[in-house]
Amino acid sequence: MITVDLRSDTMTRPTPGMRQAMFNAEVGDDCFGEDPTVNRLEEAMAALTGKEAGLLVTSGTQGNQLAVRAQTHHGDDVVAEHDCHLFNAEAGALSALSGVQTRLLKGDRGVITPEQIEEVVRPKDVHYGRTALIAVENTHNKSSGSPWSLEALAAVYAFARPRNIRVHMDGARLFNAVVATGISAQTYGRYVDTFSICLSKGLGAPVGSVVVGDRETIDRARYFRKMFGGGMRQAGVLAAAGLYALEHNISRMADDHRRARRFAEALADMPGVGIDLNEIRTNMLFFTPPAGQPPEQVVRKCETRGVRMLAMRPGVIRAVTHLDIDDTQIEYAIDVCRETMPHPS
Ligand SMILES: Cc1ncc(COP(=O)(O)O)c(C=O)c1O
Repeated sequence: MITVDLRSDTMTRPTPGMRQAMFNAEVGDDCFGEDPTVNRLEEAMAALTGKEAGLLVTSGTQGNQLAVRAQTHHGDDVVAEHDCHLFNAEAGALSALSGVQTRLLKGDRGVITPEQIEEVVRPKDVHYGRTALIAVENTHNKSSGSPWSLEALAAVYAFARPRNIRVHMDGARLFNAVVATGISAQTYGRYVDTFSICLSKGLGAPVGSVVVGDRETIDRARYFRKMFGGGMRQAGVLAAAGLYALEHNISRMADDHRRARRFAEALADMPGVGIDLNEIRTNMLFFTPPAGQPPEQVVRKCETRGVRMLAMRPGVIRAVTHLDIDDTQIEYAIDVCRETMPHPS
């Protein structure tokens, strides 16, 4: 049976070329700053985003949380979008690791505006915590991987800067946004202070993320990484996969986006299926099955035929395309969905 694992773009397995690069990696003890491959990856990601320095970390969660820890103090406020990953799906780390309070704003496809932010920024007063950081997510996972426009981001940054508020971008899927919009990572980088960028999602590496920013912030993040037990030794074997991904796996994301679009359009043609095609610009799609067909049931039925998706928030199924999904698998997934979700009438 053909298997089509659309649950997440974290399902990719390293390709033979990537494994070879990992095998050949020159390594050293990274806690001594002596792993040349880690150093190269950190420098490469910093250069790509126009930042001074980078830090290899174990996961997107660790990257986000270190960026927050490095740019806030306990008691500070972090402003974030209501459905963002760093508040909702990182095991309560904002309060556990950084002791910050969170002000959540309902975004439009993940985008929050200066007007909304202004409403929750604390005046300077002895009664209030300090608003220290605004976190944005690009692409925005829960909005079918919607990318941020430069105008929207520039507006947030223009608001934050004069108020001494830092802007962090959860760029778990930054390069999906880059490929979809044509805005370079460096251009996005003009309007954020820090990024956390995942190697283990659309880029197809097995482990890791890189935090980038100014040197002082990254030095602080490095200190907290050690404190949180994330210091690594011969991590060059992992960094090599990241370097390989930066070289080979960025422009090909356009194929993932095309396949997500193809899948989404086919779903839109199925009677009773709800999907907003305007939202589908990268590699994720969310849809609602026809009335009377609960998502969990549809997911279970599809899975018996090898098509794996996730029943997410109430009533909704998520599918994500990635490096290990080709055209044939997408056509198969479409056939299975069509046969699994007959029209209710
Ligand atoms: C938008 C976003 N940010 C951060 C993360 C966290 O990444 P990780 O699972 O590597 O901790 C995810 C994971 O799916 C994500 O979707």
